[in-house]
Amino acid sequence: MEKNIAVIKGDGIGPEVVNEAIKVLDAVAKKYGHQFNYTDILMGGCSIDAYGVPLTDEALPIAKKSDAVLLGSIGGDAKTSPWYKLDPKLRPEAGLLKIRKELGLFANLRPAYLYPELADACPLKESTSEKGFDMVIVRELTGGLYFGERSTEVIDGETVAHDNLVYSESEIRRIAKRGFDIAMKRRQKVTSVDKANVLDTSRLWRKIVNEVAQDYPEVTVEHMYVDNAAMQLVKDPAQFDVILTENMFGDILSDEASMVTGSIGMLSSASLRADSFGMYEPSGGSAPDIAGQNIANPIATILSAAMMLRYSFDMDEEADAVEQAVKKVIADGYRTIDIDQNNTRVSTTEMGDLIVERL
Ligand code: IPM
Ligand code: MG
Repeated sequence: MEKNIAVIKGDGIGPEVVNEAIKVLDAVAKKYGHQFNYTDILMGGCSIDAYGVPLTDEALPIAKKSDAVLLGSIGGDAKTSPWYKLDPKLRPEAGLLKIRKELGLFANLRPAYLYPELADACPLKESTSEKGFDMVIVRELTGGLYFGERSTEVIDGETVAHDNLVYSESEIRRIAKRGFDIAMKRRQKVTSVDKANVLDTSRLWRKIVNEVAQDYPEVTVEHMYVDNAAMQLVKDPAQFDVILTENMFGDILSDEASMVTGSIGMLSSASLRADSFGMYEPSGGSAPDIAGQNIANPIATILSAAMMLRYSFDMDEEADAVEQAVKKVIADGYRTIDIDQNNTRVSTTEMGDLIVERL
């Protein structure tokens, strides 16, 4: 099969980790007789440096007409980078929000699981971590606070800011369906997270989730307030299978969930719409402090590429092969600096090579 992939290497460690994912994709193409064509797009800080905007009007159509997008990471150090002196609409993150919205990527899947071999890196008590955990956060990605009207104005001599939180039934229904579909392929449990004791949007969220649940009698549904969910994630993460939640809560809880795995450099993510198109990126950020040193962990990006093979290209066998190769490299004791515990420490490029060898 021939597929066109738009590649956004981005900022920080982005280019380094994306290069390794492309190395792996090329090896897959060779082994299974596919052809992957790559077109680079600038987004984030590198685009600001080149064109003054985080995403150009020329870049977007390239992403739109591709079969999938592979993204490294965007952004820099907010304290020191000149990008963060710009108007918020011109900062790196604005490019990311724009591409999510323009591509219609409403469903963000963020798996968080404990690798048994990396259990030592889990910051939780051993009595908690020894139970293991394996969850996926299904985060609504194109609505809510991120995309509501916002403004800052002076009223009666005082500055007042507001951000609008809006959700429509249809927006909730489509992400809820996605969450339940995913639960059906897993352990058939959905924990819907909201703040229905306070927010109208959350009360609507709960109502629609319950309606959608009627179509999935096999799935157990539970509703949890977001503050409690934050607590439960560190107290008993094993209870979660699918966490279904809105944009802002999902942003916060997915960082927490990835942190409790202790190995954020290993976690992939996908942003999908209703058809097979998607954008795939590692869960971790641009890590400007370690950029350019060939030490970042490329596995999250390589596993994101595996998700691309599975969800966008319908290449399950190929995706399995990549995931197996990653499992093997970990079992064989190779580690990048982020997960190193007296194992064989390897660089970013060495890790890519070792995974290709195991394909
Ligand atoms: C994420 C990031 C983004 C978000 C930022 C960079 C805008 O934190 O992908 O979780 O808040 O969605
Ligand atoms: Mg985030």
